[in-house]
Amino acid sequence: MRRAKITVVGAGNVGATTAHWCASMELGDIVLVDIPQTENMPKGKALDLMESSPIMGFDAKIVGATSYDESAGSDVVVVTAGIPRKPGMSRDDLLSTNAKIVSAVSEQIKQSSPDAIVIVVSNPLDAMVQRCLQVTGFPPARVLGQAGVLDTARYRTFIAMELGVSVEDVSAMLMGGHGDTMVPLPSCTTVGGIPVTQLIEPSRLQQIIQRARDGGKEIVDLLKTGSAYYAPAAACAQMVEAIVKDKKRLIPCAAYCDREYGVGGYYVGVPVVLGSGGVERIIELKLSEKEQADFNKSVSAVKELVGAMNGLLGQK
Ligand code: NAI
Ligand code: 2OP
Repeated sequence: MRRAKITVVGAGNVGATTAHWCASMELGDIVLVDIPQTENMPKGKALDLMESSPIMGFDAKIVGATSYDESAGSDVVVVTAGIPRKPGMSRDDLLSTNAKIVSAVSEQIKQSSPDAIVIVVSNPLDAMVQRCLQVTGFPPARVLGQAGVLDTARYRTFIAMELGVSVEDVSAMLMGGHGDTMVPLPSCTTVGGIPVTQLIEPSRLQQIIQRARDGGKEIVDLLKTGSAYYAPAAACAQMVEAIVKDKKRLIPCAAYCDREYGVGGYYVGVPVVLGSGGVERIIELKLSEKEQADFNKSVSAVKELVGAMNGLLGQK
């Protein structure tokens, strides 16, 4: 059977670490692409990673490139190209620079891998994934964004830390945009099958939810030179795995919602079934009154962001 071909665009922190996780999980052969100005950096990272395979015991061909020739015909493309934020910057401060980068990258993907499923990671995520859809013109099921897997991982980590239990036993769902308005859902959070509301009192749970919302900023403030990459890259690898192994994972992703949740044609974080067809289904949940109000607020923030991007790019 042919191995899956996975391209990761952007060989920086998130991109190189995504390649690392995907290779070590033997998800397929990997092409790491960056801009010509980086000279041979992606080739160096790819070779270094491949040379770790005899030690770590994985089989994967990993190549680096500064053009898209090597990546032609990829099954999955992960877009991590763009600038990350520094302390004091919000994800939205990246809008103008990254919209241009994601436009250029999406044009290349459209030409070189017309049948690929594209996972966008670049920030501000909800606008960048919309931009990728606009430029590639791919079916919305094949263009999605990584945010919810990371955001729920943070939320799950903080709940496990609070209760002193294994992260493996914390299951959660989260909706909305990848920003300050994201909506962790207490009604869909369980620990060993027990509703979290039976284990953590409401005011403490709200503090944990707020820490998850601020999770990206917390890492930026600690690192000072860039943003998080281990957990974001692990989230990307989980999504790539769901696609190449057709696992039908039910996980939160930024998916194109039209009639779903009455969103009207924007990308927001929702529970999806992720398999070889990309977003195969969007699950519509019955939300509590508070969760619905928070979700509506988050969708409004996403619409505003996309409006600002379209204005910058002179799009309707
Ligand atoms: P980084 O600066 O380490 O790497 C970015 C790479 O993109 C650089 O190597 C750069 O040369 C490359 N690049 C720039 N323009 C390009 C182009 N046109 N084609 C190909 N490559 C290009 O940044 P890092 O930390 O890897 O973050 C990447 C992006 O991912 C940022 O926008 C960041 O905000 C976002 N991010 C999103 C997360 C999410 O959950 N959605 C989580 C973490 C980061
Ligand atoms: C994060 O949440 C920067 O979006 C990135 O860490």
